[in-house]
Amino acid sequence: MSTPIYKKLSEQLADQIRQGIYKTSEKLPSVRNLAKQQGVSVSTVLMSYNTLEDWGLIEVKPKSGYYVKALANKTLAPPNIQQSTPSPNDVTTSQLVMAVMRDSSDPRYISLGAAIPANDFPILHQIKKVFAQIVRSEKFLGIGYDSTKGCESLRRQLARRAVDSGILVSPENIVITAGCQGAIGLCLRTLCQPGDIVAVETPSYYGLLQLIESLGLKAIEIPSDSVTGMSIEALKLALEQWPIKAILSVPSFSNPVGALMPDKNKQQLVELIYEYNIPLIEDDIYGDLGYSEQRPKAVKAFDTKGQVLLCSSVSKVLEPQLGLGWVMPGKYLEQIEYERFLSSSSHFRLPQLAVAEILSRGSYDRHLRLARETYRQRRDRLSDLICQYFPENTRLSNPQGGFVSWLQLPDQTNATQLYLQAKKQGVIIAPGEIFSSNPKKYRHSIRLSYASEWTKDRENAIRVLGKLARELTP
Ligand SMILES: Cc1ncc(COP(=O)(O)O)c(C=O)c1O
Repeated sequence: MSTPIYKKLSEQLADQIRQGIYKTSEKLPSVRNLAKQQGVSVSTVLMSYNTLEDWGLIEVKPKSGYYVKALANKTLAPPNIQQSTPSPNDVTTSQLVMAVMRDSSDPRYISLGAAIPANDFPILHQIKKVFAQIVRSEKFLGIGYDSTKGCESLRRQLARRAVDSGILVSPENIVITAGCQGAIGLCLRTLCQPGDIVAVETPSYYGLLQLIESLGLKAIEIPSDSVTGMSIEALKLALEQWPIKAILSVPSFSNPVGALMPDKNKQQLVELIYEYNIPLIEDDIYGDLGYSEQRPKAVKAFDTKGQVLLCSSVSKVLEPQLGLGWVMPGKYLEQIEYERFLSSSSHFRLPQLAVAEILSRGSYDRHLRLARETYRQRRDRLSDLICQYFPENTRLSNPQGGFVSWLQLPDQTNATQLYLQAKKQGVIIAPGEIFSSNPKKYRHSIRLSYASEWTKDRENAIRVLGKLARELTP
């Protein structure tokens, strides 16, 4: 993916405007001066300034120059997630979930609803090449069943990389699964019986809620903060009140909000699971996609007793088609291994070998650096577009990693109506009600994915959504 120079310059200037380096109403350097200073052509600077104008960040004053536009409404307040007292519920929104899933993969629509990684990163070509090399050189057929934990070379690479999230684990303590959903399914089946209660943060990724439902479990939704994630105090209260069997949380860049639990809270969470002697299933699927230099620590990094089962996959960092996940199950290793054997005794070796090879290369780290910076810029662009087109009082989370954001419309606006009407205009979003077992809870919220490049069509989709949202806001 090579970004044109004018676009890079636009993004650099947009960053400087957002950071206040260029202030509201301040004049930007003249086209000629900036061209000289940056060592680029005058037409490149003109194209950058035109782009910034399109983005609503600057305006041109005839015969005078380019000025930073008023930024009064350029910062959006974070969503204020409802803090009601939790009680266990059955989950029942599966029809709408499946409709959103179907629509999101239908190429006739522009999808802002699905949480899938961008497809314009060079790593995808590298994966293809690695597959071809392995097909030529490695034995992946005619070897019978693989190890009951999955391919050894992949587990070795995962163990090596776990150090970045503060985890010391041996390859023997990792089990390869069918995606992260597969890993969490194994954990829930190992730890719970039908009728048991599982604590989850709210709002929560609908796939996890549906999984809980399919196993006959009940979800108790623990209030969470749009910046710091699951509330430790609320969780403690729920633990005092209900016989909770397991906790399931996405502490680093949660879906749909993008919250990051601070280390202090991660430590407290571990103390709490020790106090109540219950397991924590940590879903770390977005952990590698943080925008700051330092990768966040996993909750498992604070666990010395093996009570945290960390689940993840390559679906968000590389590609969901690879269908590869894993669990680091701590003291539940034997049960998880057995559950894996029960659920499916054959696991295709080829993608495991390919991912092991990719993880061993420096190009994976380069990919992570590129993906993190790209997603950060795409998040900022989303925020600009929402400011430009959405009703006043719209709130938006500001994730520090991953690529989904939680948008809260004014209270009276029905987000499910917005989903239905947007679909008629060819745009798909994920309505808030699928992120809770109580469909009324997030009736005025939606999740937006900003992984893909902001093409004209995608920007226009936000404009369409904003217009509909205004019409639906009394
Ligand atoms: C938080 C979270 N967990 C799990 C999954 C499922 O992951 P996989 O596709 O690897 O099964 C997703 C996918 O959107 C997710 O967002």
